[in-house]
Amino acid sequence: MPRMTVNERPLEFDMEPHTPLLWALRDAANLTGTKFGCGNGDCGACMVMVDGAALRSCLITIAEAEGRFITTIEGLSRDRSHPVQQALVAEQAIQCGFCTPGIAMAAAALLQRNAAPSEAEIEAEIPNVCRCGVYPRLVKAIQRAGRVTRRRETISAAPAPGISAADAAKAVPALRATGTVNANASEE
Ligand code: FES
Ligand code: FES
Repeated sequence: MPRMTVNERPLEFDMEPHTPLLWALRDAANLTGTKFGCGNGDCGACMVMVDGAALRSCLITIAEAEGRFITTIEGLSRDRSHPVQQALVAEQAIQCGFCTPGIAMAAAALLQRNAAPSEAEIEAEIPNVCRCGVYPRLVKAIQRAGRVTRRRETISAAPAPGISAADAAKAVPALRATGTVNANASEE
């Protein structure tokens, strides 16, 4: 039963070791902010941080994630206050929003390494597919988030989408549970 730390909580998945991390996060830990797009490593909708690096969770098994530190969009910030989240909202770089969690994780990982990325660097480092075509606004948003990270700018808090962070956490058991997550729990 692979063990790892997810959003700063220790979890042990009672699932087959070859299970993709994406399914463990979504189906067992109820962390549905991480999206399933293609399942082939092409779209980036499933991007999470593994030991600080943005990786596609559809391509990693839970055996490969054993002992590692996983951050999902739910753990990026509890109150949507991460500069990337605020800048994506401020620059209106979200349309349907399906790609947004994966893009936010890729952008957050990029800004950890390089808080002042050029447009070319953003295009190279954020390979995520957005079917709504937010790319021009995405570049502006990530560069703006970089300025916030470098303390050159502030963005007033993004409006909460009608639900408090505390209420959202109530519906996400893995954010408060520790120990084994049983993949079959919902069927019992
Ligand atoms: Fe993982 Fe598309 S679902 S890259
Ligand atoms: Fe719709 Fe990107 S905002 S897929």
